[in-house]
Amino acid sequence: MKQKLILLCLFSLIQFSLFAQNGIIIYKQKDAPIEARIKDLMSKMTLKEKILQLNQYIGGYNNNANNIAELIRTIPPEIGSLIYFDADPVWRNSIQKKAMEESRLGIPILFGFDVIHGYRTVYPVSLAQACSWNPELVTQAAAIAAKEAKLSGIDLAFSPMLDVARDGRWGRVTEGYGEDPYTNAVFGVATVKGYQGKDLSDPYSIAACLKHYVGYSRSEGGRDYHSSEISRQSLWETYLVPFEACVKAGAASVMSAFNDISGVPASANHYTLTQVLKDQWKFDGFVVSDWGALTKLIAQGVAKDKKEAGLKAFNAGVDMDMYDNIYFEYLEELLNEKKISMVKIDDAVSRVLRVKFRLGLFDNPYTEIVSEHDRYLHPESKIIAQKLAAESMVLLKNNSKTLPIKSSVKQIALIGPIAKDTANIIGGWEGHGKSADVESIYEGMVKEFGKNVVLNYAKGCDFDSTDESGFREAVLAAAKSDLILVCVGEKLRWTGENASRSTLALPAIQEKLVFELKKTGKPIVLILSNGRPIELIRLEPQVDAIVEMWQPGICGGTALAQILSGKINPSGKLSITFPLTTGQIPIYYDMRQSGEPNSGKYQDIPTDPQYWFGHGLSYTTFEYGAIKLSSEKIKKTEKLIAQVEVSNTGDVAGRETVLWYISDPACSISRPMKELKYFEKKELARGEKLVFRFEIDPERDLSYTDENGNRILESGDFYVIINNQKTKFEIIE
Ligand code: NOJ
Repeated sequence: MKQKLILLCLFSLIQFSLFAQNGIIIYKQKDAPIEARIKDLMSKMTLKEKILQLNQYIGGYNNNANNIAELIRTIPPEIGSLIYFDADPVWRNSIQKKAMEESRLGIPILFGFDVIHGYRTVYPVSLAQACSWNPELVTQAAAIAAKEAKLSGIDLAFSPMLDVARDGRWGRVTEGYGEDPYTNAVFGVATVKGYQGKDLSDPYSIAACLKHYVGYSRSEGGRDYHSSEISRQSLWETYLVPFEACVKAGAASVMSAFNDISGVPASANHYTLTQVLKDQWKFDGFVVSDWGALTKLIAQGVAKDKKEAGLKAFNAGVDMDMYDNIYFEYLEELLNEKKISMVKIDDAVSRVLRVKFRLGLFDNPYTEIVSEHDRYLHPESKIIAQKLAAESMVLLKNNSKTLPIKSSVKQIALIGPIAKDTANIIGGWEGHGKSADVESIYEGMVKEFGKNVVLNYAKGCDFDSTDESGFREAVLAAAKSDLILVCVGEKLRWTGENASRSTLALPAIQEKLVFELKKTGKPIVLILSNGRPIELIRLEPQVDAIVEMWQPGICGGTALAQILSGKINPSGKLSITFPLTTGQIPIYYDMRQSGEPNSGKYQDIPTDPQYWFGHGLSYTTFEYGAIKLSSEKIKKTEKLIAQVEVSNTGDVAGRETVLWYISDPACSISRPMKELKYFEKKELARGEKLVFRFEIDPERDLSYTDENGNRILESGDFYVIINNQKTKFEIIE
């Protein structure tokens, strides 16, 4: 079989070199192998044409407050890529036409955009998506986002963000999949699959761009753009993990980050960009710098001017320069000075062209024109949005079964700045999402509870102010109601880029509103909508139940209302730990083992967080049987099956996710207390028992990485852990 394939490849290469000799232009031949097309095209390109492929300019109206740019009015038709902020396929096609018809070789432009959690049909923020523990649903959502984006003229999405984030003060915590490397890997791969489909050249596939490579989330104190102190050990153990998984899943491109990694900026880091990504992982797509990351090398203190910044980034392995125009200005000069090599330019250009060929852009450069109505917000897309919103929401507390709301409740006070909000619950980086598409909590409640329940609405207060004049109306609404739903949280720009906060607490006015409502003596359900973990030390004791609804996108209203009514049994579990106070940061479930686990505690507050990673309640109860192992001892090359029977012992059907961890109590290095290695979510009818199963592959699940990325598997004792159970087994030589 292998031999036949090699022969076939050889045959097509010979065939296409004959074509070349016969004057047929190979790079324009749809059926020619991509590598032959690249080779042919490169042989025809001038140095200027090559260098232009390595630049990304800006096109369309730009509404990103952090990345405001002078729009390029005269776009060179030979430009490699554009960030396309608008959503008009006709405009895109007119620019593409220039590239195809006015440039000498007709190389299509690659149009990129920040598609983060949906394009027009906006889904929950990524941090929330991971709380669903449903990667298949995330793939479906990403595929819809890809289709909406593609029909608007986008070929490349600047996501998934794979920054493993353990500091909620960092505003960008919302854009990734939480604190755990494995969870980031699974949801990153799910997103890549959704965007890229079976094949990049499928009509509605777009290229993924893994970002921010690497270590950006580790910025000190959660201050955006700041320095990151990361040892090689942690780099491999934590920060590189999801990138490696997504590169292996075939992600088309990677974005180099703003931060430095222990003194060497990520966008000038030869080790991470070339040695690891390109040499070790054999990544053959392209690396684009983050916006202005090259110029930032000057401020970071590693380049004296733009030219040196370009030199460092290029030689480190950044193939395309986003926005800075430094490559356009200096690469030729640097080549003439022999500071960079032609081989490296050719390598970078071939990487960019490879992605364009893979996307089928040379063969289908234009966007199909369909009406906005046909492009966006299909009913099926909204069903996925609502499902994902519901599965992402986490029931954090439910004392005395306050939820679901009982039929005896006839009047509900719906209070708080989030209750009727449609501008913020969509979440930051909302793509082309519109507040007008967003269903508010109020609307969802009206739909779900209809005439059976009276809703007494009062805003109470703003997100952040000192104006308490709305409290009176809120208290009056609460006093005549049987139950209070108080909806508090964050504005959408309180998370995202350049949106760090010194505390995870909500502004004092929102906390005060809850204290005032507490005085009525009515049961309180706290609804949270936010993009980071919130400090709940003061609020938690005031309320009977808490639902974390996150920033659910456009279809959160009904999703929440159906959780409150009991039509949907909540099944979300946290993808990030909620510290008790901001002072506990960093706190995450896979911290390394301490020398004195029972000492070293805080004197002023408990040492445990408010809610650990993985916390999430249900309206039913699940009982776990004992973990059963297929063997207590296995060889390094054998597999071990761990199983547990879970029973739904409550009154309603529900979904349970079993999170399987391992721990290695004695190893050559001190490893995390436990590491998530697998999870599975299943629906269990009332009274049903199901077996959950984890096949442990020692090489994959029990080995650790050293500081060079080598995986080492040691023999000895290990534990497999679920909930509060742990069971020992042994690996023998
Ligand atoms: C800067 C952000 O850091 C990055 O995440 C984004 O993709 C680019 N700007 C493009 O908008």
